[in-house]
Amino acid sequence: MMFWELFMQQAVQPVVADSFSALAWRDNALRLLDQRLLPASEVYVDCTDAAQVAAAIRDMLVRGAPAIGIAGAYGIALQARFIGQSDDWSGALAESFALLEAARPTAVNLSWALKLMRDRLGRLAPDADVPARLLEAARSIHQSDHEANLTMGKLGMQLIRKHHKTPQNLLTHCNTGALATGGYGTALGVIRAAHEAGLVDTVFIDETRPWLQGSRLTAWEMQREGISACVHVDAAAGHLMKTREITWVIVGADRIAANGDVINKIGTYALSILAMHHGLRFMVVAPSSSIDMALENADDVIIEERSANELLMLGDQSVDTGVPAFNPVFDVTPADLVDAIVTEKGVIERPDAKKLADLMSHRHLH
Ligand code: MRU
Repeated sequence: MMFWELFMQQAVQPVVADSFSALAWRDNALRLLDQRLLPASEVYVDCTDAAQVAAAIRDMLVRGAPAIGIAGAYGIALQARFIGQSDDWSGALAESFALLEAARPTAVNLSWALKLMRDRLGRLAPDADVPARLLEAARSIHQSDHEANLTMGKLGMQLIRKHHKTPQNLLTHCNTGALATGGYGTALGVIRAAHEAGLVDTVFIDETRPWLQGSRLTAWEMQREGISACVHVDAAAGHLMKTREITWVIVGADRIAANGDVINKIGTYALSILAMHHGLRFMVVAPSSSIDMALENADDVIIEERSANELLMLGDQSVDTGVPAFNPVFDVTPADLVDAIVTEKGVIERPDAKKLADLMSHRHLH
């Protein structure tokens, strides 16, 4: 075995601990790191009922598909605590389920987590301590997302290593790190694991207009991890692919359809086309909770549109000329532009409906 192979094999253990928690259960409340204020300040906000959690999701204190699913689950647990006692728990929680489900429409993880909570509630014995059992269920959703991320980090790193043995330049979009998940991250988890394995030179980060999840959040996480990174305007991605020897684009997903179409942060579709033109590999990293087997393809998925003001104000300065602004916050990357989907159940290369169905019907393929 060559020296570098030995080195890579020994170096694959990812750094597990995150130095902060985007969401945590503390003192009978859901404590959220207010992501709107990063990187300037680290402010934590406590939510004590479902309406507060729904507002935090809608207003993007907490964001990222897995993180909003976990927050939604805690929202139900909080509401049950708030109610205390009931003879009709599903009636008592119905409004909270609906409120949370409507908070953001595109990421499937939110409705997935709420369905798990509803199922758990439905299976409880009549004399069960419902608030305690629902809190356990929310904690378990949180914990298993963290574990899924660690598995995906390793699988994605091994996929990079299959093709490249030396440090690579990578490009990522939006924020898919510990901030966006139950810990460690999806695409950023792969980047962390690849960094640990000595496979990362520089991570190029799209700033990700208009919320700047790239330049505010991903850059903040990379800085804390000591991973070499560089931020650029979204429109520079093509130029960088042409001039900087980038070999992989690695992104997350808010929902993946049964045929492998990927719904993710606006700009992901353009990146996939640029990647194809420049011969880069395009990796999507998402837990199986982001895969929506009920959605045949992504043609009719609801793409969240946010306020035009997000585009028409630059800090305190208005750029409003009276011309209307259109602000879709996600887009669809067709399956045939995706080289690999990495999930905790295994890796699919050149995804299609059959491979997705096989993956989802097995517990673990790797
Ligand atoms: O609008 P956001 O910040 O919630 O969008 C987040 C993304 O698009 C992420 O890429 C996706 O949720 C995956 S996060 C692991």
